[in-house]
Amino acid sequence: MRKLLIAANWKMHKTPIESSAFLTSFFPLIKNNTTAEIVLCPAMTCLPALVDAARSRPVFIGAQNMHWKNEGAYTGETSPVMLTAIGATHVLIGHSERRQYFAETDTTVNLKLKAALAHSLVPIVCVGEHLEERESDLTRSVLELQVSLALEGIDPAVAAPIVFAYEPVWAIGTGRTATAEIAEEAHVIIRNQIAKILTPELASSIRILYGGSVKPDNAQSLCCLKDIDGALVGGASLDPHSFAEIVRNAASHSQARP
Ligand code: PGA
Repeated sequence: MRKLLIAANWKMHKTPIESSAFLTSFFPLIKNNTTAEIVLCPAMTCLPALVDAARSRPVFIGAQNMHWKNEGAYTGETSPVMLTAIGATHVLIGHSERRQYFAETDTTVNLKLKAALAHSLVPIVCVGEHLEERESDLTRSVLELQVSLALEGIDPAVAAPIVFAYEPVWAIGTGRTATAEIAEEAHVIIRNQIAKILTPELASSIRILYGGSVKPDNAQSLCCLKDIDGALVGGASLDPHSFAEIVRNAASHSQARP
């Protein structure tokens, strides 16, 4: 059984003081959670404070991005060594905003994925089609290509920690969520492609999250689906009450998964 994972992507929001205030409100709200693995991905400047505050709490702290090299002349970048040194455990890779605004490509996604695995960081690899691609019936080929290129040259023996996030670009920050049917269909495409590139066993154990306008009231209908193993939440993760409600709703319904 794949463990439910609910991740928060805070993007470029919250100062260290605001992040700590979030945790103070959030911990009591999730004190009964035993079902979901919870990951918070704040801005780089908040990582050390959040790692400290989350110590011996049931919450993991991840980064939103990293470079694939250990060190070097790469102004403004953060390396996997730096992330593990401060106690981060997860990292988002290839978020569509990185692809769109910061020239992230499938090649850099692949390099970052290999680096994350080499440094024992749990990679959450984001894939997803643009609206025009969906409307031109290209969703399947886009997803298959993104998954194949992300996984190129990855040894199945080290691939178990990988997490994918299906984030249709047209659903991110738009209030437009994929229907359960659209999301499940995309997750199956991704899972089948993982089976093809890695192994069928890995395809059935690797978690695939849904992301794109997840809110407390749609977390239930998405997270009860067979191939949806959790959510990557942007806007609705900024408020501790709405994020805790997403965790609760997803957890209660995921137990009914077929
Ligand atoms: P959203 O963002 O929940 O605000 O749509 C999701 C994401 O970008 O990961």
